Amino acid sequence: MEKYNNYINGKWIDSSSGKTIEVDNPATEKVIGEIACATNADVDMAIEAAKKSFQNRSLVDMPIMDRARLMHRIADETRKIAKEGGTLLCYENGKALAGAVKEFSDVADTFDYYAGLTDKLEGKTIPVANGVLDYTVLEPYGVSAHIIPWNYPLAMIGRSLACAMATGNSTIIKTPELTPLAATVFAKAIERANTPPGVVNIICGYGNEAGAYLVSHPDVNHIVFTGSVATGKKILHAAADKAIPAIVELGGKSAGIVYPDANLDDVVESARHAIFGVAGQICTAMSRLVVHKSVKDELLVKLVDLSKSLKVGPGYEEGSELTPVISQNQLDKVEGYARSGIQAGAEAVHGGKRVDREGYFMEATVLDKVTQDMTVAREEIFGPVLSVLEYEEPEEAIQIANDTDYGLGAGVFTKDLDKASWTANKLESGQVYVNKWFTGSLATPFGGYKQSGYSREKGQQALNAYLQIKNVGISLS
Ligand code: NAI
Ligand code: MG
Repeated sequence: MEKYNNYINGKWIDSSSGKTIEVDNPATEKVIGEIACATNADVDMAIEAAKKSFQNRSLVDMPIMDRARLMHRIADETRKIAKEGGTLLCYENGKALAGAVKEFSDVADTFDYYAGLTDKLEGKTIPVANGVLDYTVLEPYGVSAHIIPWNYPLAMIGRSLACAMATGNSTIIKTPELTPLAATVFAKAIERANTPPGVVNIICGYGNEAGAYLVSHPDVNHIVFTGSVATGKKILHAAADKAIPAIVELGGKSAGIVYPDANLDDVVESARHAIFGVAGQICTAMSRLVVHKSVKDELLVKLVDLSKSLKVGPGYEEGSELTPVISQNQLDKVEGYARSGIQAGAEAVHGGKRVDREGYFMEATVLDKVTQDMTVAREEIFGPVLSVLEYEEPEEAIQIANDTDYGLGAGVFTKDLDKASWTANKLESGQVYVNKWFTGSLATPFGGYKQSGYSREKGQQALNAYLQIKNVGISLS
């Protein structure tokens, strides 16, 4: 069994406590590796390294095209090890191999994208009065702490770290205790690209220990978090206590509205990827379908056919489509949700329980006759469980879709683009997908309404959240 270490100040460091965290393969429940568990002393070391690199102005004073070149080198080094890193991600997370390798190599694209923006972060001159030159300068916050979730660890590291580096911040990444290993492969790319020591530190530790200590540390100036609402609120409290900014992306309960004229095969294809892919552990999962009464029976038949056809298996086996959820806890939780739906009057037209085999596999579950009051319609399940609700009038569909504390994703299926844009205008959601879930790219802004958070990541404007504006006024007389 391989042992992995934390990457602090450009060195590979064991835990100062000697403690490790074991990581298992969710398809076999067997331990595949262990990682040094960062405790407060290790977090201190990482913060000290980041702070020193910021004070030394390693990135800030680097000629801007050299900073861009450093990021392109990280992209190149990441691409070289995408197969290795993606494979490890597949084993620790459970997701399909092709998707895991793509997630890893997408980090490289993200670095190339933001490398190209490093020299385009421009301030302004502002007319104030004769004899005064007034201008703005964009400056980094300093030490930025990133708390990473287990469902898309590499994607989340890529998008937040690339922004932090492009803007000159020094970073400490706290990787998820369930899936920390692929991130250590990525740290090799950071090392091989000759990143100045301390600019990027990658450590793993428990959320309520290393994570909580990190975000509340007085030397941390900026926080980025993706994960559950409950933890996100703790992060915001920690940020509020120090009056520092926090970027938060907090999950969802996204609904797709199916109009009577929808191409139902489009809905089924979206379900394949957006609720059964990665076993439904996706923040923008299409976890609810709000379906017009006239097409519901026909759609249910197609959804059952899809569910039956999905090949259940580990992500590293060719053709696996329904891969395991992350842990025993998560499996218990997801199965518990399905059971609660059935007890409350929903009907499982497919699935409803765990798969009888080794590993944390949950059946592809389609719940019909779900109503708005049911827990399965309200809470983020984070598993392959699709709730189907029925409506008759378009206004009612919108009311149901918006009847949630979340606002991350939403969708509309219709051939009528007037109706699609009318609906998109009314949906309370940061993303609206028309006829196909997940149409965005690394260039499109991503974030939530309501309790899904208020930050926007990806795209050009994401950089604004990593910069503070200084206004300088010079009296010329
Ligand atoms: P979580 O939100 O607690 O964990 C996410 C990250 O936060 C991990 O790195 C964890 O170590 C860290 N963390 C936990 N407590 C912390 C604290 N007090 N201070 C600082 N960092 C802390 O999610 P968890 O427990 O892994 O999963 C619970 C539920 O959260 C899932 O069932 C799912 O519903 C939701 N979730 C949603 C995600 C999304 O993308 N929206 C991602 C991960 C989880
Ligand atoms: Mg595991």
